[in-house]
Amino acid sequence: MSIHVNEEQKLFHLQTAKTSYIFKILENGGAGQLYYGPRVPVKDAYTNLASREEHDCTNTLTVEQPDFQLELIKQEYAGLGKGDYRYPAYQITYHDGSRTSEFKYMGYRIIDGKERLADLPSSFDDQGDDAQTLDVVFKDEYENIALTLHYTIFDKEDVIVRSATFLNHGNDIMLDRALSLQLDLPDAKYDMVQFSGSWARERHLIRTPLRAGVQSISSLRDASSHQHNPFFMLARPHTDNNHGGAFGFNFIYSGNFLDSVEVDQFDTTRVLVGINPDEFGWKLSDGDSFQTPEAIMTYSADGFNQLSQQLADFYQDHLINPHFARQERPILINNWEATFMDFNEDKLMPIVDEAHKLGIEMFVLDDGWFGHRDDDKSSLGDWFVDEKKFATGIDGFAKKVHDKGMKFGLWFEPEMISIDSKLYEEHPDWMISTPGRQSTPARNQYVLDMSRKEVVDYLFDHISAIIKKTKLDYIKWDMNRNITEMFGAQLPADRQLEFAHRYILGVYQLYARLTAAFPKILFESCASGGGRFDLGMMYYAPQAWCSDDTDAVERIKIQDGTSYGYQQSMWGAHVSAVPNDQVGRLTSIATRAAVAYFGDFGYELDITKLPQAELDEIKDQVVFYKKYRQLFQFGKFYRLENADTANDNVYDWEVVNDDQSEAIVARFQILNGANPAYIRIYFAGLDPEKQYTVNDGDEKFSGAELMNAGYFVPRIMDRTKPEKDPSDFSSRLFVAKEA
Ligand code: GLA
Repeated sequence: MSIHVNEEQKLFHLQTAKTSYIFKILENGGAGQLYYGPRVPVKDAYTNLASREEHDCTNTLTVEQPDFQLELIKQEYAGLGKGDYRYPAYQITYHDGSRTSEFKYMGYRIIDGKERLADLPSSFDDQGDDAQTLDVVFKDEYENIALTLHYTIFDKEDVIVRSATFLNHGNDIMLDRALSLQLDLPDAKYDMVQFSGSWARERHLIRTPLRAGVQSISSLRDASSHQHNPFFMLARPHTDNNHGGAFGFNFIYSGNFLDSVEVDQFDTTRVLVGINPDEFGWKLSDGDSFQTPEAIMTYSADGFNQLSQQLADFYQDHLINPHFARQERPILINNWEATFMDFNEDKLMPIVDEAHKLGIEMFVLDDGWFGHRDDDKSSLGDWFVDEKKFATGIDGFAKKVHDKGMKFGLWFEPEMISIDSKLYEEHPDWMISTPGRQSTPARNQYVLDMSRKEVVDYLFDHISAIIKKTKLDYIKWDMNRNITEMFGAQLPADRQLEFAHRYILGVYQLYARLTAAFPKILFESCASGGGRFDLGMMYYAPQAWCSDDTDAVERIKIQDGTSYGYQQSMWGAHVSAVPNDQVGRLTSIATRAAVAYFGDFGYELDITKLPQAELDEIKDQVVFYKKYRQLFQFGKFYRLENADTANDNVYDWEVVNDDQSEAIVARFQILNGANPAYIRIYFAGLDPEKQYTVNDGDEKFSGAELMNAGYFVPRIMDRTKPEKDPSDFSSRLFVAKEA
């Protein structure tokens, strides 16, 4: 691991185990990007990489420097106004209304390790053995503003974390745009691979070749959103799961974001990642500073699986709360799809009893336990128990669950308020609204102004009281609508554009206080399923409800897409009832479980209504998952490339443990084909020298055989199955164990 600086050349070479990132200070005092990709040796100067040509019809730095044409130069953190017309990384409006900045290089410092950011979720290097940080400082002399570009290299995981800080020591300025990461690449022969969708069909993979102009994904919902995930990749056209080069980008933030890729007139590519500049502005007076959230980038020369695995390791060691990183997560049962809000203690206890008999480890009580909430029209904000549902209080019910030796979890939706609530009666002004405008409801509810300290204090006090009363083990923190009529009642007019970011800082503040006060509570974030599935949330809540769609077939696509940019312990995955509540599909309980094994496994159905045969199956599933939980939740995840996986009808996933002594492959087939061809599954990530058995069979296979010659998969059609176990939507599991 090393950051190499050639002071004379003002050249910076950041090396991780397998990558190099090189930039240098230019004649104008700004920084120019030279290279990012597979590791190259350190040398004194990269004259060839830095060489330029003179082009006609463009701007030059001075008359004497005709080859310094900003439009043609790859930059580190570009502004607008000096002849580079691509979209910039930042923009400042000065006190006189002017908007042209000239930041000039002042110096640098290298710090071993990586400190956490104060008010934002961030990467860290608590062990102090994997990271090194470079700060490069620039100054705008016109108004005495310092700009620091922060780079932290995480050696083993080949990840580089980027952010920027502005510190003003002059007249008031307005920061109109302050992105976190800019990367200018020398060509545009890439596919953009993004993960987009909607409620109940989040993070579907979309792959499109780059074209001239700006292509972007973004959010203006003040949430990372169901519609577009901040994670995306730029991949060479031939790149697949096992081969080829790809850059991956992600953002440690939960509000409005912009991921923009611009292909310019010379077919170069500019990547920008950061807070969406629309609906953003930040006023900096003398002495004020602004720290952008962190963005991350990584490069894999060996396909998407390698890229996902680099990120997975990075998240576990440098992002997830160390208390929960690589810690097995409990098998839970959640009552939402079993009862919705129609429950009381008498109805829930039989579910708890049955769950206990089946070996399930935690009961999660979802929406409807507080205020007088029998439907979604009331009570959000009233975080005290509905006594007509729980005669002995929520503490009495929690005790009954705990007495069975099970953990107890509760649902909250802290950021919300119902008009029909005590909270609204007392504090109508805590609700976000714009004076003189009608407030727009969504799911009959409204949003609290999380930028106000008294709101965060109220929520902290009320949630803490319930935590203490119930000796709570787990919180599902939901967020079921986005903000409208965005307005900060406490902010002056020239700070209104700060509101969206201030809201998110308030959410982080509440998370930070609760996780500090109650370090043992496992948080699962949720936003109508996967509407806030991002690294900002993951910093506080190590897992997130992946999607409200619990249909096994739909979930295959959602979890497959999610797996490119996230690690499988980061998503909750439950077995629910059939016909499925979202799509009405019938699938076998075996397939529902096989999909949900690849995540934080649980159940979400009324198990008291199941036939004994299915209860027996669940009991076996629980035993099976407990046995392989570490492997499912933390094993290296592979999306296998097999002969028939290219057509969206078949998905093969694999998890492999660290010492390559165990692996599980799942084959999911959506529709069954008639008279199908022979199929072999090619395992990945095994030790070629080790001997393995598959599903405890007699034959032994070398890892080399399973990976190269493959494993024959018998036909899935089974005429002996009952009708409701159709051959469509089938799953097979292959457990390889070192012999
Ligand atoms: C959201 C969540 C669900 C459930 C409901 C409760 O939709 O995603 O899992 O908690 O809210 O209202």
